[in-house]
Amino acid sequence: MSTNGNGPGSSKMTSSLKENLLDRMRNTHQSSERNRMARSEREMPPPARRQQARFEDLPEYKQVQTQKFASEQLGIANPFYRAHQTAAGATTVIDGRKLINFASYDYLGLNRHPEVLARAKETVETFGISASASRLVAGERPVHVELEEKIARFYGVDAAVCFVSGYLTNVAAISCLMGPKDLVVHDEFIHNSALAGIKLSGATRRLFKHNDANDLEHVLRTVDEAHSLGVVGKHGRGLAEHFGVDPNEIDIWMGTLSKTTSSCGGYIAGSEALVAVLKASAGGFVYSVGLAPVLAASAAASLDVLAREPSRTAALRRNGALFLKLAKEAGLDTGLSSGFSVVPVLVGDSLRAVQLSNDLLAAGVNALPIIHPAVPEGLARLRFFITSDHTEEQIRKTVTLTAERLKDLTERNFGLGGIDIDQMMKALSAR
Ligand SMILES: Cc1ncc(COP(=O)(O)O)c(C=O)c1O
Repeated sequence: MSTNGNGPGSSKMTSSLKENLLDRMRNTHQSSERNRMARSEREMPPPARRQQARFEDLPEYKQVQTQKFASEQLGIANPFYRAHQTAAGATTVIDGRKLINFASYDYLGLNRHPEVLARAKETVETFGISASASRLVAGERPVHVELEEKIARFYGVDAAVCFVSGYLTNVAAISCLMGPKDLVVHDEFIHNSALAGIKLSGATRRLFKHNDANDLEHVLRTVDEAHSLGVVGKHGRGLAEHFGVDPNEIDIWMGTLSKTTSSCGGYIAGSEALVAVLKASAGGFVYSVGLAPVLAASAAASLDVLAREPSRTAALRRNGALFLKLAKEAGLDTGLSSGFSVVPVLVGDSLRAVQLSNDLLAAGVNALPIIHPAVPEGLARLRFFITSDHTEEQIRKTVTLTAERLKDLTERNFGLGGIDIDQMMKALSAR
């Protein structure tokens, strides 16, 4: 790969060589999935002849190393796992630099809201940090019940139950409610946690195209509200309010506490019977520690603010719509975005998306890339998380910088398409 100072855009390559590298990258990822399956199905050899397994030999490790090596060769800094030195909202601090931040779940700016902080402090004083046991045995605290009642009331359904993360909520609820004789029909881009739950349940699954729910109303009975609570609907009550649907027509409402309610945890809301089943038999609830009281209290306080101040939802919507409008005017590809809390800017090439993120960071804006294998190669993007606290100036500046920097990278043909593939393949095989 070219390291001659002109960057990866400087050398030409044949399309077959490029495909070769892409295939190699894809295969490393796909083979890790196959390998995991094979490992779980493989019969164990007799102990005497068993070879010592080394993590270094796993394809997953090799993939990480290959990516690291390729980034070093190309001189591209790793945009992931950068530590923030403050609570990240509309702005953040990384390496001592104050940045405009478009990478936070704190959609309504509640993470440092005085009322939420006061409730958290008071709860820590009384209950410490941990629930110290599964709720079923000795982990139940009054604040769990308070939060669950608030969520159920907010949704207008009978009951709710909270889990220790949004991810776990999907895994535990889906694997508890579905079984090998069931069919799950889902959006092709369903969140990984729901996919894990379906796989664990043993149910058969069928996909439909992203957001194309024509004729599926009769089978779509579970709604993941991770990015809808506090975001859509006039009062931020989510998709039921947005579409004017009776919330009781949906069997299962699922959401996370880590986004709008600026805490950590997840919930299922619906009928008394649904909640009773999960509380009695969902493994991730019964056999896991109760949600930390401080997190339950913070989420409850955030819900109170959200219910009282719908203007926060309106501000978020204004900001999302402004970002989308400006991005479109600047010629950026925003895909299918409707301009709510997350606006993607499609870049295409994974390397170009990573470099765009790095270039924006250097210019004072933090926005993270989503690259292969999280999305298919060719669909890499930057994902901008909008909050109600972003100012118009921050949004305008960010869109302008993004358009400028992307134009520059495109003109330089920066990315996989511009790699000196011969050199990279040689370097890879020499390792
Ligand atoms: C659609 C969806 N479901 C579930 C989750 C998992 O939630 P959490 O991060 O709170 O565990 C996420 C997280 O981003 C999500 O986007």
